[in-house]
Amino acid sequence: MGNVQVLDHPLIQHKLSFIRDVNTGTKAFRELVDEVGMLMAYEVTRNLELEDVEIETPVTKATVKRLSGKKLAFIPILRAGLGMTTGILNLVPAARIGHVGLYRDPKTLEAVEYFVKLPQDIEEREIIVVDPMLATGASAIEAITSLKKRGAKHIRFMCLIAAPEGVEKLQAAHDDVDIFIAALDEKLDENAYIIPGLGDAGDRLFGTK
Ligand code: URA
Repeated sequence: MGNVQVLDHPLIQHKLSFIRDVNTGTKAFRELVDEVGMLMAYEVTRNLELEDVEIETPVTKATVKRLSGKKLAFIPILRAGLGMTTGILNLVPAARIGHVGLYRDPKTLEAVEYFVKLPQDIEEREIIVVDPMLATGASAIEAITSLKKRGAKHIRFMCLIAAPEGVEKLQAAHDDVDIFIAALDEKLDENAYIIPGLGDAGDRLFGTK
């Protein structure tokens, strides 16, 4: 079973409190989501492999550590996942970015795929799927299924806020995927919004309604 890790770093929690606040406007919301995306990526990449490298400092030879092993790819789920991408790239500028476009059918609440574009060598990369909200789990499950169909093997999922229902469903569907969240909220309402949540992440990021 994949782990669920709540990233309780005080900076993440502090910023999340403003992200949730209805009085936070689009500009600040966007900046905060980006910042938290970066801080979360820092934690999610904590166990990346390192290797010894010989270099010369200005004063002597030294053995230092550099990243080795698999290269990273971040996969934002469109459209709200885009809101975390710039922050992540500030931290890991060489990472590749793939996109999975899904929309939620308003009647069935099922995730419907409409766009997939991935790095060619997706099967060799360490994949981190990004979406601010894990609500019913339908989008995350569908996105990860779609990535696995195309050869992805090592997948983690990161989001700002998760509902217990979504975590449970995602774990049941993809038990090899570790889940990183900033907060585990109470429940879903009848429209599959997370309570207390932050409202519609896409609308708040892009100023739509
Ligand atoms: N998607 C959102 O943007 N917000 C929710 O509360 C649930 C799904």
